[in-house]
Amino acid sequence: MTIRFDGQVALVTGAGAGLGRAYAIDLAQRGARVVVNDLGGNPFGEGEDRAPAQKVADEIKAMGGEAVANFDSVSSYDGGFNMVKTAIDTFGRLDVVICNAGILRDVAFHNMSEADWDAIFAVHAKGAFTVLRAAWPVFRQQGYGRVVLTTSSSGIYGQFGQANYGAAKTAMLGLMNVLKQEGVKYNVNVNTLAPVAGTRLTATVMPQEMVEKLKPEHVVPVVVYMVSNQCSDSGMVIEAGAGNFNRAAIVKGKGLQPGLDSVKDAEWVQANWPAITSLEGAVPMWRSGQTLEAFLADRQQA
Ligand SMILES: NC(=O)c1ccc[n+]([C@@H]2O[C@H](COP(=O)([O-])OP(=O)(O)OC[C@H]3O[C@@H](n4cnc5c(N)ncnc54)[C@H](O)[C@@H]3O)[C@@H](O)[C@H]2O)c1
Repeated sequence: MTIRFDGQVALVTGAGAGLGRAYAIDLAQRGARVVVNDLGGNPFGEGEDRAPAQKVADEIKAMGGEAVANFDSVSSYDGGFNMVKTAIDTFGRLDVVICNAGILRDVAFHNMSEADWDAIFAVHAKGAFTVLRAAWPVFRQQGYGRVVLTTSSSGIYGQFGQANYGAAKTAMLGLMNVLKQEGVKYNVNVNTLAPVAGTRLTATVMPQEMVEKLKPEHVVPVVVYMVSNQCSDSGMVIEAGAGNFNRAAIVKGKGLQPGLDSVKDAEWVQANWPAITSLEGAVPMWRSGQTLEAFLADRQQA
């Protein structure tokens, strides 16, 4: 079935370049009216420039689409509010938010400064909060919303030199896990993407040939599907790019349930370590309360 966004409004943060630009263009081609947000700084989060967001908004308009540029920083609470206000004032509603804006400050942990840590958390972690906090009441009121957060394989699995970035990107999983629950009643779905693409961000770490081959367009389809009306899933973490699409998940192992009749000691843990750490039969969870289900079931039987 063709996926269309006629009558819908999408806000894409960091849409002046790279992946965000590609999402904005594809959504506009499918009928969405788009708020193209970008602060326009350098890949390390320094400076500002209105040109990238304006250029993408103009590009969309030149193709016959509808777009408006916004130049606020996602790390500002007022900025997040203003992006949502821009969507409402210009187009009258907001259906889709893609939290995509990002920067890097890679450095081995023993050399990482407080500024490197704070800058990364301001853009990635607080940057998702500010925009979604402003969008959430709109979604609740209209009983509809689609969100994609952007994590990274660095956050899911780890990458040397990215303690700040990896930690902030893992925060996206925590945010999604709560918002997927709070959104259920209002038909607000929240999924998370871990992309791989050649952009100016990855040009700082990838060879040029790879940057040219790994086009953002190979990531776009999964994001567009996840923010569409046709996708009813929430709480998915999807890796996409470099010719690959797959789900990633935090899973809970079966472990051991010795009960509470006797307190175990470290030697018991040592003896049972293989069973405690086994991932055989591990499953994803929907909410943290499920981790107490075995205990609560036992209590009910007693
Ligand atoms: N490219 C990859 O392989 C890859 C891998 C994992 C995760 N990511 C993530 O994907 C997202 C997009 O990255 P990209 O590779 O397209 O990089 P990019 O540098 O091409 O695009 C990021 C955009 O975000 C904008 N931005 C930065 N700080 C901002 C702020 N405070 N407010 C508003 N806009 C801001 C930048 O100006 C830039 O245009 C980022 O969150 C990045 O961490 C990318």
